Amino acid sequence: MCIRPIATLPNRDVKNLNMNPEIRTVFLLSAIFTTTTVATPLPLRTLAQPPDVQIPDSTIHAHKTNLKLSRGNMQKTDAACSKKLFGKTRDGEIVDLITLKNSSGCEARVITYGATLTGMDVPDKSGKADNVVLGFDNIGDYETKSPYFGATVGRVANRIARGTFDLDGTTYKLAINNGPNTLHGGLKAFDKKVWTIEKLEQSPPSVTFKLHSKNMDEGFPGDVDVEVCYSLAEDNALKITYAAKTDKSTPLNLTNHAYFNLAGAGRGTILDHILKLNCSKYTPVDQDLIPTGEIADVSGSPFDFTAPHTIGARIAEVAGGYDHNFCIEPVKNVAEHQGAVVPESVQEVQSVQSVRKVQGVGSLAPNLAAVARDPESGRILKMLTTEPGVQFYTGNFLDGTISGIGGIYVKHAGFTFEAQHYPDAVHQPNFPSIILHAGEKYNQVTIYKFSVR
Ligand code: BGC
Repeated sequence: MCIRPIATLPNRDVKNLNMNPEIRTVFLLSAIFTTTTVATPLPLRTLAQPPDVQIPDSTIHAHKTNLKLSRGNMQKTDAACSKKLFGKTRDGEIVDLITLKNSSGCEARVITYGATLTGMDVPDKSGKADNVVLGFDNIGDYETKSPYFGATVGRVANRIARGTFDLDGTTYKLAINNGPNTLHGGLKAFDKKVWTIEKLEQSPPSVTFKLHSKNMDEGFPGDVDVEVCYSLAEDNALKITYAAKTDKSTPLNLTNHAYFNLAGAGRGTILDHILKLNCSKYTPVDQDLIPTGEIADVSGSPFDFTAPHTIGARIAEVAGGYDHNFCIEPVKNVAEHQGAVVPESVQEVQSVQSVRKVQGVGSLAPNLAAVARDPESGRILKMLTTEPGVQFYTGNFLDGTISGIGGIYVKHAGFTFEAQHYPDAVHQPNFPSIILHAGEKYNQVTIYKFSVR
């Protein structure tokens, strides 16, 4: 993908606003995508920091101060982070529910099982909040039915062909759980473990989870410590910050697997949502959804969302529906990029660079990768990430047999923007490496930011 420097974007002709309503919607989305300022300078410091996930300072504070000035202290006291019991697993483990609430009418709910985002209430254009994340209201459904709804996925998101890989002269054999392949880390991977709450904070409302994954967990080498922090900003941005370390070289590729429906979870399909991806390349797959190794141009194909299209417009041309990794090009000059942080010191630049070396390509500051808009409700979701890829999946395997919060989840009831390194990277030398070595730090920041128009 190519994030186009804003300065080089063509000016829009006001005459375009008189076009037919459908094209106008697409046009306006395009304008939003290319001109929106991401208000939150992002935490290069976080990228350079160890597994201790830091909740960064950002313009969130400035934003809050403005709110305080204009709307009084009530705004401050509205935001909150609270915890209560969600349920017990079949093994008797306690699962907690943490609610993060801001004072702009947005609420995010996460549980310790799988460090999972179970729901998110977001206002529509008339101010009415509804849940836009597919999920369940009970632990039993998460344990028995969930196709990774909202889960933190690891050690390795997406597929590893034949469930095996070679590393440092050893062949590792993983749990096979998807045809002949390993999907999303195996049978009892990060999404099915109960994480510990490391930290709850009120300002901004946030929760940090941690998990220890033992040497040979699901067949992966090394003792790995992971932390994931969910933090809800006043501007309705849910920021997910990941950090990890290992004592032995291992593949690591973390993601969040939230399915979104901006019309409201359970309210039909996402086929009418309008999508723009800042990705000019993607990784084609074989019949088992394993990348062929090619990094192909999207132009002239149904994968071309560099200009906005409805998700449904060309989905019939894609066997099975969209379930592909799109390549996000790093911004060459961070200072030019909206939302980018200019590092404060040379040390910061150097340590960020060393982190990027560990992670392969990607972006120094979260990079605007994708925008979706539901024309009906007016809700817009932008995804920004430091990762080099995004799996755009259109809920092709949902078939109406699962009901959750909001109703029945039909085929295409939700879509995912899974920020990640490319799938099956352990077998593709031309893909950015996902190997984390002892002494190195894994860091990722991904933001799901909501707005309306
Ligand atoms: C994969 C799909 C898979 C889904 C599981 C996605 O990340 O790309 O192929 O079916 O996860 O829910």
